[in-house]
Amino acid sequence: MPGEKQFLSLEEIEQATQFLQSRTSIQPRVGMILGSGLGGLADSVTEGIKIPAADVPGWPVSTIEGHSGQLVLGELEGQSVFVLQGRSHYYEGYSMSRIGLSVRVMQSMGVEILIVTNAAGAVNPDFEPGELMLITDHINYMGMAGASPLRGPNLASFGPRFPDMSQAYDRELMAAARKVANKEKIGLYEGVYICLGGPNFETPADLRFLRAVGADAVGMSTVAEVIVARHGGTRVLGVSGISNKANLDGETITTHEEVLEAGKKIVPKLTTLIGGLLRWL
Ligand code: HPA
Repeated sequence: MPGEKQFLSLEEIEQATQFLQSRTSIQPRVGMILGSGLGGLADSVTEGIKIPAADVPGWPVSTIEGHSGQLVLGELEGQSVFVLQGRSHYYEGYSMSRIGLSVRVMQSMGVEILIVTNAAGAVNPDFEPGELMLITDHINYMGMAGASPLRGPNLASFGPRFPDMSQAYDRELMAAARKVANKEKIGLYEGVYICLGGPNFETPADLRFLRAVGADAVGMSTVAEVIVARHGGTRVLGVSGISNKANLDGETITTHEEVLEAGKKIVPKLTTLIGGLLRWL
């Protein structure tokens, strides 16, 4: 964004954190980031407060339909939660560093577990729209080209300069998610998520490439947030809502409307899965 500082500073993180702490005394344990069309999950949060993202100093406000841009702090299934109803994306013009602000503020407020969700296209031809995919790993495709949220001075009070990513997605949380899905009879694919910059959807050649390098689902978010979370020692569970078949054959048109429409089918399943998980925690 014009005039935006390139890297997040501790002062900016503190400022946003203090603003929220001046509005609520809730000390969230679980953070949640809700992807395109999936914000409905936050409607079940009780005894809380809703804060427009635009009120928080420095917050990267989402400009995209399907992202209502609210921060919801309250109780869900017996856990104190900090829910981001809609997220911001790199393609909106924010720096990678600023995309990580929400996670830094969550960490500063005491969040130990982050549940990230997104809408994603199926690169794996066996995956059907409307279903969920447990993210078992990701490919940091943008990061490989240098676009990392950790680029710039290391915030050593959060974590090390060279954080490990061998278990970006927490094995115990994944095992719990599988159990809940099984018990609630919710289908749960498993696979590797890859983040591209967007905002355009992929060409068939792009998708053949993504499949060849081992991706199962493609989207435009999540990876930066997970990297910031892991840098700060936050445990992560990731779930993609498969919103569309990827255009591998060149005949399948993908639209944002389709992504939001699929969200309606995905939200009830996601609500059940995350509800069960929160009760287990
Ligand atoms: N490609 C990239 N991002 C997406 C898609 C897709 O097909 N669907 C939802 N987000």
